[in-house]
Amino acid sequence: MQEVFIEGGLIRKLWPIEAHAYRDHLLRLDADSRRSRFGGAVSDEMIRAYGEAIDGTDTIIHGFFVGGILRGAADLRLLGPAHNGEAEAAFSVEKPWQSHGIGSALLERCLLAARNRGIKLLHVSCLSENQRMQQLARKYEAQLSFDFGTVVGRVQNSSPTPLSLIQEIVTDGHSFAAACLDLQSRLLRPAAPAGSPAE
Ligand SMILES: CC(C)(COP(=O)(O)OP(=O)(O)OC[C@H]1O[C@@H](n2cnc3c(N)ncnc32)[C@H](O)[C@@H]1OP(=O)(O)O)[C@@H](O)C(=O)NCCC(=O)NCCS
Repeated sequence: MQEVFIEGGLIRKLWPIEAHAYRDHLLRLDADSRRSRFGGAVSDEMIRAYGEAIDGTDTIIHGFFVGGILRGAADLRLLGPAHNGEAEAAFSVEKPWQSHGIGSALLERCLLAARNRGIKLLHVSCLSENQRMQQLARKYEAQLSFDFGTVVGRVQNSSPTPLSLIQEIVTDGHSFAAACLDLQSRLLRPAAPAGSPAE
Protein backbone atom coordinates (compact mmCIF):
# COMPACT_ATOMS: atom_id res chain seq x y z
CA MET A 1 0.00 0.00 0.00
CA GLN A 2 1.48 3.36 -1.10
CA GLU A 3 2.34 5.57 1.88
CA VAL A 4 2.04 9.35 1.91
CA PHE A 5 5.21 10.99 3.16
CA ILE A 6 3.93 14.49 3.78
CA GLU A 7 4.38 15.79 7.29
CA GLY A 8 1.06 15.73 9.07
CA GLY A 9 -0.62 14.05 6.07
CA LEU A 10 -3.25 11.41 6.75
CA ILE A 11 -5.51 9.35 4.48
CA ARG A 12 -8.78 8.03 5.88
CA LYS A 13 -12.39 7.46 4.91
CA LEU A 14 -14.71 10.42 5.28
CA TRP A 15 -17.67 10.16 7.63
CA PRO A 16 -21.06 11.15 6.13
CA ILE A 17 -21.19 14.28 8.34
CA GLU A 18 -18.03 15.51 6.62
CA ALA A 19 -19.75 16.23 3.29
CA HIS A 20 -19.04 19.94 3.85
CA ALA A 21 -15.27 19.24 3.99
CA TYR A 22 -15.49 17.47 0.63
CA ARG A 23 -17.53 20.32 -0.88
CA ASP A 24 -15.01 22.90 0.39
CA HIS A 25 -12.09 20.88 -1.00
CA LEU A 26 -13.73 20.73 -4.44
CA LEU A 27 -14.43 24.48 -4.30
CA ARG A 28 -10.73 25.12 -3.56
CA LEU A 29 -9.51 23.30 -6.70
CA ASP A 30 -7.83 25.69 -9.14
CA ALA A 31 -9.61 26.22 -12.49
CA ASP A 32 -7.57 23.60 -14.42
CA SER A 33 -7.90 20.93 -11.74
CA ARG A 34 -11.62 21.63 -11.40
CA ARG A 35 -12.11 21.26 -15.16
CA SER A 36 -10.08 18.02 -15.17
CA ARG A 37 -11.97 16.67 -12.17
CA PHE A 38 -15.42 17.28 -13.66
CA GLY A 39 -14.53 16.89 -17.34
CA GLY A 40 -15.55 20.49 -18.10
CA ALA A 41 -16.31 23.86 -16.55
CA VAL A 42 -18.58 23.71 -13.50
CA SER A 43 -19.83 26.57 -11.34
CA ASP A 44 -19.53 26.88 -7.57
CA GLU A 45 -23.28 26.29 -7.37
CA MET A 46 -22.97 22.97 -9.21
CA ILE A 47 -20.18 21.89 -6.86
CA ARG A 48 -22.27 22.80 -3.81
CA ALA A 49 -25.18 20.73 -5.14
CA TYR A 50 -22.82 17.85 -5.96
CA GLY A 51 -21.29 17.93 -2.47
CA GLU A 52 -24.70 17.84 -0.84
CA ALA A 53 -25.83 14.86 -2.94
CA ILE A 54 -23.45 12.41 -1.24
CA ASP A 55 -25.27 9.23 -0.26
CA GLY A 56 -23.41 7.54 2.58
CA THR A 57 -24.63 4.08 1.56
CA ASP A 58 -23.45 4.14 -2.06
CA THR A 59 -20.46 6.46 -1.78
CA ILE A 60 -17.08 5.80 -0.20
CA ILE A 61 -14.77 8.79 -0.08
CA HIS A 62 -11.17 8.49 1.00
CA GLY A 63 -9.71 11.82 1.99
CA PHE A 64 -6.19 13.14 2.32
CA PHE A 65 -6.00 15.52 5.29
CA VAL A 66 -3.28 17.95 6.34
CA GLY A 67 -3.76 19.71 9.65
CA GLY A 68 -7.38 18.57 9.67
CA ILE A 69 -8.13 20.12 6.24
CA LEU A 70 -9.16 17.92 3.32
CA ARG A 71 -6.67 18.42 0.48
CA GLY A 72 -7.34 15.39 -1.71
CA ALA A 73 -10.10 12.83 -2.28
CA ALA A 74 -10.98 9.59 -4.04
CA ASP A 75 -14.72 9.40 -4.64
CA LEU A 76 -16.05 5.87 -5.22
CA ARG A 77 -19.73 5.60 -6.14
CA LEU A 78 -21.48 2.26 -6.45
CA LEU A 79 -23.94 2.52 -9.32
CA GLY A 80 -27.20 1.97 -7.45
CA PRO A 81 -28.16 -0.65 -4.84
CA ALA A 82 -27.98 -3.44 -7.46
CA HIS A 83 -24.74 -2.05 -8.83
CA ASN A 84 -24.04 -5.20 -10.84
CA GLY A 85 -20.38 -4.98 -9.95
CA GLU A 86 -19.95 -1.49 -11.45
CA ALA A 87 -18.80 1.72 -9.83
CA GLU A 88 -17.50 5.14 -10.77
CA ALA A 89 -14.41 6.76 -9.30
CA ALA A 90 -13.04 10.29 -9.42
CA PHE A 91 -9.92 11.82 -7.93
CA SER A 92 -8.89 15.29 -6.85
CA VAL A 93 -5.79 16.70 -5.20
CA GLU A 94 -5.33 20.41 -4.58
CA LYS A 95 -2.51 21.92 -6.64
CA PRO A 96 0.16 22.43 -3.92
CA TRP A 97 -0.17 18.73 -2.97
CA GLN A 98 -0.11 17.30 -6.50
CA SER A 99 2.83 15.13 -7.67
CA HIS A 100 3.65 13.91 -4.15
CA GLY A 101 2.18 10.42 -4.54
CA ILE A 102 -1.17 11.35 -2.98
CA GLY A 103 -3.22 10.49 -6.07
CA SER A 104 -1.52 7.07 -6.17
CA ALA A 105 -2.19 6.42 -2.48
CA LEU A 106 -5.84 7.44 -2.88
CA LEU A 107 -6.25 5.24 -5.96
CA GLU A 108 -4.87 2.23 -4.06
CA ARG A 109 -7.31 2.74 -1.18
CA CYS A 110 -10.14 3.14 -3.66
CA LEU A 111 -9.21 -0.08 -5.52
CA LEU A 112 -9.10 -2.03 -2.27
CA ALA A 113 -12.52 -0.70 -1.20
CA ALA A 114 -13.94 -1.50 -4.67
CA ARG A 115 -12.56 -5.03 -4.59
CA ASN A 116 -14.02 -5.68 -1.15
CA ARG A 117 -17.45 -4.66 -2.44
CA GLY A 118 -17.35 -7.00 -5.41
CA ILE A 119 -16.75 -4.24 -7.99
CA LYS A 120 -15.56 -5.74 -11.26
CA LEU A 121 -15.71 -2.64 -13.45
CA LEU A 122 -14.56 0.76 -12.29
CA HIS A 123 -15.32 3.74 -14.55
CA VAL A 124 -12.87 6.65 -14.30
CA SER A 125 -13.88 9.43 -16.67
CA CYS A 126 -10.93 11.53 -17.67
CA LEU A 127 -10.27 14.07 -20.45
CA SER A 128 -7.99 12.76 -23.21
CA GLU A 129 -5.45 15.54 -22.49
CA ASN A 130 -5.29 14.69 -18.78
CA GLN A 131 -1.73 13.29 -18.83
CA ARG A 132 -1.40 13.22 -15.10
CA MET A 133 -4.46 11.04 -14.52
CA GLN A 134 -3.47 8.80 -17.42
CA GLN A 135 0.04 8.42 -16.00
CA LEU A 136 -1.49 7.58 -12.65
CA ALA A 137 -3.79 4.97 -14.21
CA ARG A 138 -0.86 3.54 -16.20
CA LYS A 139 0.90 2.72 -12.92
CA TYR A 140 -1.96 0.34 -12.27
CA GLU A 141 -2.34 -0.95 -15.81
CA ALA A 142 -2.49 -4.50 -14.52
CA GLN A 143 -5.82 -3.41 -13.09
CA LEU A 144 -6.85 -0.58 -15.42
CA SER A 145 -7.22 -0.44 -19.19
CA PHE A 146 -7.45 2.69 -21.37
CA ASP A 147 -10.10 3.76 -23.80
CA PHE A 148 -9.32 7.11 -25.53
CA GLY A 149 -10.89 10.02 -23.59
CA THR A 150 -12.19 7.76 -20.90
CA VAL A 151 -10.21 5.52 -18.63
CA VAL A 152 -12.16 2.39 -17.84
CA GLY A 153 -10.62 0.39 -15.06
CA ARG A 154 -11.25 -3.27 -14.69
CA VAL A 155 -10.55 -4.40 -11.14
CA GLN A 156 -8.88 -7.76 -11.32
CA ASN A 157 -9.19 -10.35 -8.55
CA SER A 158 -12.39 -8.54 -7.77
CA SER A 159 -13.61 -11.13 -5.29
CA PRO A 160 -12.77 -10.09 -1.78
CA THR A 161 -10.46 -12.38 0.10
CA PRO A 162 -10.02 -12.64 3.87
CA LEU A 163 -6.70 -10.85 3.39
CA SER A 164 -8.13 -7.96 1.36
CA LEU A 165 -10.97 -7.54 3.89
CA ILE A 166 -8.54 -7.55 6.80
CA GLN A 167 -6.30 -5.10 4.93
CA GLU A 168 -9.18 -2.60 4.68
CA ILE A 169 -10.20 -3.11 8.33
CA VAL A 170 -6.62 -2.67 9.56
CA THR A 171 -6.09 0.40 7.36
CA ASP A 172 -9.34 1.93 8.65
CA GLY A 173 -8.28 1.17 12.24
CA HIS A 174 -4.87 2.81 11.77
CA SER A 175 -6.47 5.80 10.07
CA PHE A 176 -8.99 6.20 12.90
CA ALA A 177 -6.26 6.11 15.55
CA ALA A 178 -4.17 8.58 13.53
CA ALA A 179 -7.20 10.87 13.09
CA CYS A 180 -7.77 10.88 16.88
CA LEU A 181 -4.10 11.71 17.55
CA ASP A 182 -4.18 14.41 14.88
CA LEU A 183 -7.28 15.99 16.43
CA GLN A 184 -5.80 15.75 19.94
CA SER A 185 -2.54 17.40 18.90
CA ARG A 186 -4.42 20.22 17.17
CA LEU A 187 -6.65 20.75 20.23
CA LEU A 188 -3.60 20.87 22.52
CA ARG A 189 -1.67 23.29 20.28
CA PRO A 190 -1.37 26.72 21.99
CA ALA A 191 -3.71 29.31 20.51
CA ALA A 192 -2.04 31.82 18.17
CA PRO A 193 -1.69 35.32 19.67
CA ALA A 194 -4.47 37.69 18.68
CA GLY A 195 -3.77 39.43 15.38
CA SER A 196 -1.38 36.75 14.06
CA PRO A 197 -2.18 35.35 10.58
CA ALA A 198 -4.46 32.26 10.47
CA GLU A 199 -2.78 28.96 9.46
C1 LIG B 1 -4.91 13.41 -11.26
C2 LIG B 1 -4.52 13.65 -9.80
C3 LIG B 1 -5.62 13.10 -8.91
C4 LIG B 1 -3.20 12.91 -9.54
O1 LIG B 1 -2.83 13.14 -8.21
P1 LIG B 1 -1.29 13.34 -7.81
O2 LIG B 1 -1.23 13.38 -6.34
O3 LIG B 1 -0.75 14.52 -8.55
O4 LIG B 1 -0.67 11.99 -8.38
P2 LIG B 1 0.73 11.31 -8.03
O5 LIG B 1 1.64 12.28 -7.36
O6 LIG B 1 0.43 10.04 -7.33
O7 LIG B 1 1.31 11.07 -9.48
C5 LIG B 1 0.70 10.18 -10.38
C6 LIG B 1 1.59 10.03 -11.58
O8 LIG B 1 1.45 11.20 -12.41
C7 LIG B 1 2.74 11.62 -12.83
N1 LIG B 1 2.73 13.05 -13.01
C8 LIG B 1 2.89 13.98 -12.06
N2 LIG B 1 2.81 15.20 -12.61
C9 LIG B 1 2.60 15.02 -13.96
C10 LIG B 1 2.42 15.87 -15.07
N3 LIG B 1 2.43 17.21 -14.93
N4 LIG B 1 2.20 15.31 -16.28
C11 LIG B 1 2.17 13.97 -16.43
N5 LIG B 1 2.33 13.11 -15.41
C12 LIG B 1 2.54 13.63 -14.18
C13 LIG B 1 3.66 11.24 -11.72
O9 LIG B 1 4.95 11.09 -12.30
C14 LIG B 1 3.07 9.95 -11.21
O10 LIG B 1 3.59 8.85 -11.87
P3 LIG B 1 4.89 8.11 -11.28
O11 LIG B 1 4.62 7.81 -9.83
O12 LIG B 1 4.99 6.92 -12.14
O13 LIG B 1 6.02 9.07 -11.43
C15 LIG B 1 -4.28 15.17 -9.50
O14 LIG B 1 -3.27 15.65 -10.32
C16 LIG B 1 -5.53 16.01 -9.68
O15 LIG B 1 -6.29 16.19 -8.73
N6 LIG B 1 -5.75 16.57 -10.87
C17 LIG B 1 -6.94 17.39 -11.11
C18 LIG B 1 -8.23 16.55 -11.11
C19 LIG B 1 -8.15 15.39 -12.07
O16 LIG B 1 -7.54 15.46 -13.13
N7 LIG B 1 -8.81 14.27 -11.69
C20 LIG B 1 -8.83 13.09 -12.55
C21 LIG B 1 -10.13 12.91 -13.26
S1 LIG B 1 -11.35 12.25 -12.19
